[in-house]
Amino acid sequence: MTDQPPAGEQPALPNRQTPFSEAFREFIPQSWAPYPDELPAELPAASRAALRRRALAEAFPGERLVIPAGGLKPRANDTDYRFRPHSAFAWLTGLGSDREPDAVLVLEPTDTGHEATLYFKPRAPRTDPEFYADARYGEMWVGTRESLAEMGALTGLSCAPVSGLEDALSKNLAATGVRLLREADASVTGTLDLLRAQAGVDAIAAAETDNAFAVHLSEARLLKDPFELDELRRACADTAVGFEAVVADLPEAVRRGRGERWVEGVFGLHARHQANAVGYDTIAASGDHANTLHWIRNDGDLRPGDLLLLDAGVEVESLYTADITRTLPVNGTFSPAQRTVYEAVLAAQAAGMAAARPGNRFSDVHAAAIRVIAEHLEAWGLLPVSAEESLDPETGGQHRRWMVHGTSHHLGLDVHDCAQARRENYRDAELRPGMVITVEPGLYFKSTDLLVPEELRGIGVRIEDDIVITEDGCEILSDHLPRDPDAVEAWMAAIWAR
Ligand code: GLY
Ligand code: MN
Ligand code: MN
Repeated sequence: MTDQPPAGEQPALPNRQTPFSEAFREFIPQSWAPYPDELPAELPAASRAALRRRALAEAFPGERLVIPAGGLKPRANDTDYRFRPHSAFAWLTGLGSDREPDAVLVLEPTDTGHEATLYFKPRAPRTDPEFYADARYGEMWVGTRESLAEMGALTGLSCAPVSGLEDALSKNLAATGVRLLREADASVTGTLDLLRAQAGVDAIAAAETDNAFAVHLSEARLLKDPFELDELRRACADTAVGFEAVVADLPEAVRRGRGERWVEGVFGLHARHQANAVGYDTIAASGDHANTLHWIRNDGDLRPGDLLLLDAGVEVESLYTADITRTLPVNGTFSPAQRTVYEAVLAAQAAGMAAARPGNRFSDVHAAAIRVIAEHLEAWGLLPVSAEESLDPETGGQHRRWMVHGTSHHLGLDVHDCAQARRENYRDAELRPGMVITVEPGLYFKSTDLLVPEELRGIGVRIEDDIVITEDGCEILSDHLPRDPDAVEAWMAAIWAR
């Protein structure tokens, strides 16, 4: 929620801004073409979002449910990060890229169910100083934002100005159960906590029901509907285009120096051009940097003879993201040592995928992949114990020195989707058709690891694909990009031969 000066009043000016004269303020609202009468088409996700709202309302009869989008976040002083709504808000409204800062979805209990209202800040008329003087929301600064009617047409929701939110939240507060997605907007959380205190609501109990609500919202997204699967397919296809563009530009990345940044930039260009953005900061890790799992500094050179680990995903306009990793030889050919490590990781991934089917648990995918990793480490003489001993969850774990991360996570609107789901519904849960997860084993031999033979030091490999669980197994959504090492070399050579 934000303060707005009363209509017609001079807003407080930043210290560098020239004051607006009376003459300007009289002149500026005149002679603009009217806004179009025609309303925009409904968003592609709107009808699915309505079904999700209905299911959510049915889970919490008689309770007021409050799901904020979040506000603009300052990056530096008065410049904000590009806006991205909270994923639960996007899921329940169908609103995607850039929409809608400060909006709040409220499901109000009624005698017959729930009534949904989207509170947001509609565009002010051109007579309002917002039009020319508000750099965060004004039409002259950030473009034309939606009216109430336009937002209603986009989402299929009843819409109301966010200035009415506080009244809506305070209505019958002492007698109404309210659940708030607390993490989405600190300002809304602060307002509701204050209203709750004034109404004599027990703060600790309220925080507990709020937290249970966040868990519910996370778990509600564990199974993807057909619309979501199509969006994820598109994200994977777009990501493949970005990877191809990176391969095409690898010689240039080598030539320029700081090639990791060049790779990040080329991928980012394609992500922004084709879709909304990258779904997470691109990891462009060459040589020993591949052994830093979340290497996003990306300031290293690319050297022929090294590997490039590229972990990157395109986020489409509806905010679903891919999460794909390929480890590529910078010069187009794996060295024997690189190939040895690569083939071990590929075998682990194949084992993980074979375990990714209904009836198996989420954790079985990791168990299958990590067994292959441990067996290779044993065969190479790296483990101080047998693979079997290392795989003992109570007394082992030595293999984790070389793959400390898990093999899978859920994927969707968030790259690490459904992260607040309870363990019994996530790690320990059975896989079900419609779940989308990654399969991403790796082996990481740091240059400083004295237990590793010299020829393997500085080699880091991860292979990551996105799969959907089907009735009898899984489908690889990210199958556009080769995995087999020969196929990878042939693919790179074909791109460079164009
Ligand atoms: N890109 C982060 C991950 O693979 O989980
Ligand atoms: Mn991942
Ligand atoms: Mn990844």
